[in-house]
Amino acid sequence: GLKKKEVNVLCLGLDNSGKTTIINQLKPSNAQAQDIVPTIGFSIEKFKTSSLSFTVFDMSGQGRYRNLWEHYYKEGQAIIFVIDSSDKLRMVVAKEELDTLLNHPDIKHRRIPILFFANKMDLRDALSSVKVSQLLCLENIKDKPWHICASNAVQGEGLQEGVDWLQGTDL
Ligand code: GTP
Ligand code: MG
Repeated sequence: GLKKKEVNVLCLGLDNSGKTTIINQLKPSNAQAQDIVPTIGFSIEKFKTSSLSFTVFDMSGQGRYRNLWEHYYKEGQAIIFVIDSSDKLRMVVAKEELDTLLNHPDIKHRRIPILFFANKMDLRDALSSVKVSQLLCLENIKDKPWHICASNAVQGEGLQEGVDWLQGTDL
């Protein structure tokens, strides 16, 4: 059959935001992990859609590992940036990490698509995706295609919408 186009995706965001849970849900059910633990360093995962074959660099969001992220920016062709919508205290930290990412020389001048997941929408005190978008000042991103989806990674809700969007960008 036809070989699917291969795309390297960087999965970024603070620790506990749900990155590994999201990537796990996108894998075929027979490849899904039952227990998800905090990522140490990073983990390479793969999943396929109808037209693309994704290799995901699922990075740890813990402070001590965030300096690893930039070493993979050059290889990344798309970014999935995950936010815990209920973590109001650390929204400013998430914004700082996003701004650092956007200003990095390996990212700054590229039209790399960024898919944001406003994750944990099921939690009672979760902010809406519109509110998350405002707090992160996403409207200031003018030189890259971006999209934000509310998601519940535990139930797998909102993930397909995001992947469909990513697939529709000119990867
Ligand atoms: P690091 O690997 O440490 O950077 O964290 P991570 O971003 O990969 O987070 P992980 O996927 O390990 O999830 C952290 C915790 O949040 C786990 O207990 C998940 O079950 C939980 N979680 C993830 N997504 C959701 C969600 O949408 N809703 C709720 N309620 N919990 C979630
Ligand atoms: Mg993880």
